[in-house]
Amino acid sequence: MPTQLLKAAPVTAALYEELKRKISGFKNQHGRSPKLVTVLVGEDPASQIYVSKKGSTCHALGMAHEDFKLSSNISEGELLLLLDRLNADDSVDGILVQSPLPKQISSQRVYDHIRPDKDVDCFSATNVGLCAQNRALLLPCTPAGIMELLRFYKIAVAGKNALVLGRSDIVGKPMALLLLHADATVTVAHSKTSDLAEHIANSDLVVSAIGRRGVLTGTLPWKSSCTVIDVGIHRIADGRVVGDCEFSEIEQKVAAITPVPGGVGPMTIAWLMANTVKAAYFRKGN
Ligand code: GUN
Repeated sequence: MPTQLLKAAPVTAALYEELKRKISGFKNQHGRSPKLVTVLVGEDPASQIYVSKKGSTCHALGMAHEDFKLSSNISEGELLLLLDRLNADDSVDGILVQSPLPKQISSQRVYDHIRPDKDVDCFSATNVGLCAQNRALLLPCTPAGIMELLRFYKIAVAGKNALVLGRSDIVGKPMALLLLHADATVTVAHSKTSDLAEHIANSDLVVSAIGRRGVLTGTLPWKSSCTVIDVGIHRIADGRVVGDCEFSEIEQKVAAITPVPGGVGPMTIAWLMANTVKAAYFRKGN
């Protein structure tokens, strides 16, 4: 069997058709579109690209988008005051503060300041807790996007050995939770894990959120039935964007793998859009 390439495009096309229907339904009922506000602090080039992609996707779907661009030397207090205003503004459904934030600002204090029912990233302590208990309204975008990709391609998770590489608050930890809620047997490996090869040999599904290249190569003992999800995004010397995996080596050894670009990245944005629409309906009581 040839390796299956798990592209996001057909998944996002189906999701966006459904979202467009919900967005026009919301507009008819409430006289306005669901609205996402993004907040960008500083001038990190990658963050600028991500935020602009989020805005253009909102517009393509018929949603409203407003972007606050703040100077990198803004104080934490000033940022929290802006969030107070956005929290109280009934026309704002989703609030996303792009990470990373400058050193003088505590990211967690900022995320905890966003109203949980507008926290479309699912970074606030309240939403992380609800997610851990499997009763969250808004799920974290990258892990939930990955679960949607697996559902679309009918890749079963229940009873399978899933290996999550990386233990970040944004991807690794919530990914492990969502896989656990889907009845996978979950292992989380990280920089101090002693025998990665042993874990890879035992895995039916590997989600890589290491954020580093060179660890996942074709020489590892991959199961031929394994599915590989690559969350990494790296721009390499020749200008290409690649993932954590040595794609050309691993592709030949496994059953299915996500491309980079065109895999996890678009799924994250699609889930952000879905969360914003969900948040809009929720605050209107449905
Ligand atoms: N920076 C990189 N990825 C993300 C994300 O998903 N949300 C936010 N807020 N910042 C990010």
